[in-house]
Amino acid sequence: MKAATLFRATFGVAPRAAASAPGRVNLIGEHTDYNGGPVLPVALGVRTTVVAGPADAGVLELVSTLDGRLTRLDPRDHRAAGWAAYVAGVWHEVAAAGARRGSLTGARVAVAGDVPVGAGLASSAALTVATAKALALLARTPLTPRQLAGIAFRAEHDHVGVRCGIMDQTIAALAQPSHALLIECASAEARQIPFRGRLLLVDTGGRHELAAGALNRRRGECEAAVARLQLELPELTWLAAWPAAWLARLKRALPEPLRARAVHVVGETARTRFGAQLLARGRLKQFGRLLYESHESCRRLYECSAPELDLVVAAAKRAGALGARLTGAGWGGAVLVLVERKREARITALIRGAFARAYGREPPITVVRAAGGVRRESAR
Ligand code: GLA
Repeated sequence: MKAATLFRATFGVAPRAAASAPGRVNLIGEHTDYNGGPVLPVALGVRTTVVAGPADAGVLELVSTLDGRLTRLDPRDHRAAGWAAYVAGVWHEVAAAGARRGSLTGARVAVAGDVPVGAGLASSAALTVATAKALALLARTPLTPRQLAGIAFRAEHDHVGVRCGIMDQTIAALAQPSHALLIECASAEARQIPFRGRLLLVDTGGRHELAAGALNRRRGECEAAVARLQLELPELTWLAAWPAAWLARLKRALPEPLRARAVHVVGETARTRFGAQLLARGRLKQFGRLLYESHESCRRLYECSAPELDLVVAAAKRAGALGARLTGAGWGGAVLVLVERKREARITALIRGAFARAYGREPPITVVRAAGGVRRESAR
């Protein structure tokens, strides 16, 4: 059901503002964003749409096609749970970003999402960025895509408590069709890079719950690694800034598992910057090799893979794909596969077959088209 239809069915009036934002796949640069390194995502064609209208002061009324239930809460109350907490976080941030006095005292919000939840495709950033735009339109507060990304990041990081980096919100806000975005996360500098590759997305169906644990734990390990490495290099603020030429020194300074995590981050940082150069020059074969290396590093060093992800990557490699790797946080979710068009049908069939033999079902496989970022939609 469309968000506007759900809004009218729930509240009996038409919404006043509407916006949508995309999910993403990260081509390379995993677990580098919160370490101050580079990432290289593209936006997906699947989007989340959010429509909004006014409500009484101090009331936030929320409904989503996900569960169809109406949630009513006071946004100043921090006990919102599930997806409602993300919307409440955005509400706070839009209000703080200078919504004109009294223009955002309460709101009704309806959400329709096509981005699979927990699949490593950044459904939460699609939700927060689209909500930020819809609420900003409702409050008549003009905000740039950069500002929307900042609001969405703080909603997830500060309000919900997922210790994510800035990648997902930045790509959802700044994406351009047919381009990947190289984001240097320490400076937030972003560069559009034409993307001409043929990319498949294999959803293994494994799902994760980020706030619950693994990502926050890894982030803690990275912070512990930085604290120890500062004894060697007091100027170090980000793990990704450790000089790649000093890898031996890093290994000596850190115990396991901090050593493995840090070696992944430093290696992935170099791979991502090199990968962006290769992509810009259309060197897809070499780029693909970096994808395999990245997956191996995620699996062995960062330990964020899962058996079904490894199986798909191995099947893609045997079938002759240019490259393949898990995408997003990991521990389940989706695998991206870079293919030459002439081999696509064969590779798809071989991945399907291998997966079905192991798990007794076929995974959904879709073609990724690099899409655009957040946009205003018609509220009808
Ligand atoms: C999640 C986070 C991102 C990023 C990835 C791992 O998707 O939301 O900020 O850290 O994990 O690269």
